[in-house]
Amino acid sequence: MYLPSFSLKGKTALVTGAGRGIGRAIAIGYAEAGADVVIVSRTQSDLEEVADQIQQAGGKAYTFEADVTNKRHIETIFEKLDTQNVKIDILVNNAGMNIRSKALEVSDEEWDTIMNTNLRSAFWFSQKAGERMKENRGGKIITISSVAGHVALRTGVVYASTKAAIIQMTKNLALEWGQYGINVNSIGPWYFNTPLTEKLLSDKDYLNDILAVTPQKRVGELPDLVGPAVFLASDAASYVNGQTLFVDGGMTIQGF
Ligand SMILES: NC(=O)c1ccc[n+]([C@@H]2O[C@H](COP(=O)([O-])OP(=O)(O)OC[C@H]3O[C@@H](n4cnc5c(N)ncnc54)[C@H](OP(=O)(O)O)[C@@H]3O)[C@@H](O)[C@H]2O)c1
Repeated sequence: MYLPSFSLKGKTALVTGAGRGIGRAIAIGYAEAGADVVIVSRTQSDLEEVADQIQQAGGKAYTFEADVTNKRHIETIFEKLDTQNVKIDILVNNAGMNIRSKALEVSDEEWDTIMNTNLRSAFWFSQKAGERMKENRGGKIITISSVAGHVALRTGVVYASTKAAIIQMTKNLALEWGQYGINVNSIGPWYFNTPLTEKLLSDKDYLNDILAVTPQKRVGELPDLVGPAVFLASDAASYVNGQTLFVDGGMTIQGF
């Protein structure tokens, strides 16, 4: 037998920003792959809808209405999970946002909000999960980066900086924690249709610019991302460590 397991049966995953878009798709996809899922966002009504769908897929759902920029909220989530004896096997740092200001117009407040949401939160969630995974001798950590962390795009410098930092953070955590059986990887999506990108993608000129540099000539659909997210969370990816998997229809492979 050579085929390892792609199933997440018996595992528990924590997904941040699971109320909408990519996080929601990954949370429900993980339940479809057999996992129980802990979901985090600031909007209780979104969490309830996603919890219902996780349960319909056969998984147990735990909801936490929390702000990932607040370290105390993160600590509380892990304390509560410890109290309930819920062991996190898989962490997906997905919560993210953007304010597309030009470099000369970036304010202190914008800098802090984007950094704290996209980067700082991913580090503190990783630290809290990592210390428990070290004790448990294993785990998978996946952070959602972006093509914008690899090549310069029109997304704005602060967003791009957070996503580039995630790619490097992934490598450093993989280096430190590989010895404990923890795999730390990242996924770098190109454009996917979600509430975050809805407005941009409805602009025909902008969409045409995107398609012109996308070898597959379409934007991503959420299942396109769930497959790689399940793979990286599964035993099948046990020797994949410190990598960023670009899910981009081939966008980043181009030269001229
Ligand atoms: N969509 C794309 O094309 C694309 C491309 C590359 C990378 N990405 C990355 O993929 C991730 C998900 O993007 P998306 O398009 O799915 O975004 P989205 O549709 O806007 O969803 C973001 C989710 O994160 C939650 N969130 C945001 N700030 C939060 C906070 N401070 N505390 C707790 N939860 C928070 C939101 O819930 P609440 O606001 O209710 O809290 C929501 O559930 C982000 O990291 C994004 O940068 C997306």
